[in-house]
Amino acid sequence: MKAGNLEELPIGKVFTLIEQGPVLLVATRDGRKNNVMTITWSTVLDFNGNFAIVTGPWNHSYDALRKNRECVVAIPPASLLETAVDIGICSGTDTDKFNRFALTAIKGQAVKAPLIGECLANIECQVTDYVERHGLWVLSALRAWTNPTLTDRRVAHAIGDGTFVIDGETVNLRDRMAAKIPAGAF
Ligand SMILES: Cc1cc2nc3c(=O)[nH]c(=O)nc-3n(C[C@H](O)[C@H](O)[C@H](O)COP(=O)(O)O)c2cc1C
Repeated sequence: MKAGNLEELPIGKVFTLIEQGPVLLVATRDGRKNNVMTITWSTVLDFNGNFAIVTGPWNHSYDALRKNRECVVAIPPASLLETAVDIGICSGTDTDKFNRFALTAIKGQAVKAPLIGECLANIECQVTDYVERHGLWVLSALRAWTNPTLTDRRVAHAIGDGTFVIDGETVNLRDRMAAKIPAGAF
């Protein structure tokens, strides 16, 4: 269908228009073993460290998330993108992913799930809500860590169809949107 100069997009492709938050790694600990999965379905909920990720029982991480109600959400640099994809196509059921992908597990302060030493940032989170119908986990940040030692500061964004966009130009429009940015954000 056409509407003026616009072409209709199938509903099944709508998510590719808005999926592009950072590629995330979500680390959990089931009591015995660390695990990590890749997530690109996420959204910020407010200025106070609350955000949401989407995942469900088809993943091994789900049980640890449900049982312990905590996780670490980490942002890998673009140089780790291929590893992040590989992490997202195998399962903690039969793979020790920290070992296989040579990830450094660092002990956090607020949760038992590990921080990931190779990531640009790590957020220790507790689960505050779970909307089963959508597999939507609402997370609240308890502690957050950045890694100033990494030279690659670029973040990768998933389109959702197997392609990714890596950060390029940074545009500073702080003055223009100052009224909408809370104090302390910059
Ligand atoms: C780029 C990429 C993005 C992904 N995004 C999600 C996501 O948002 N939610 C989800 O449940 N699974 C997502 N996955 C799939 C999981 O990462 C995958 O099922 C993983 O094997 C789960 O690991 P686990 O079984 O050890 O928990 C994604 C995978 C890739 C490669």
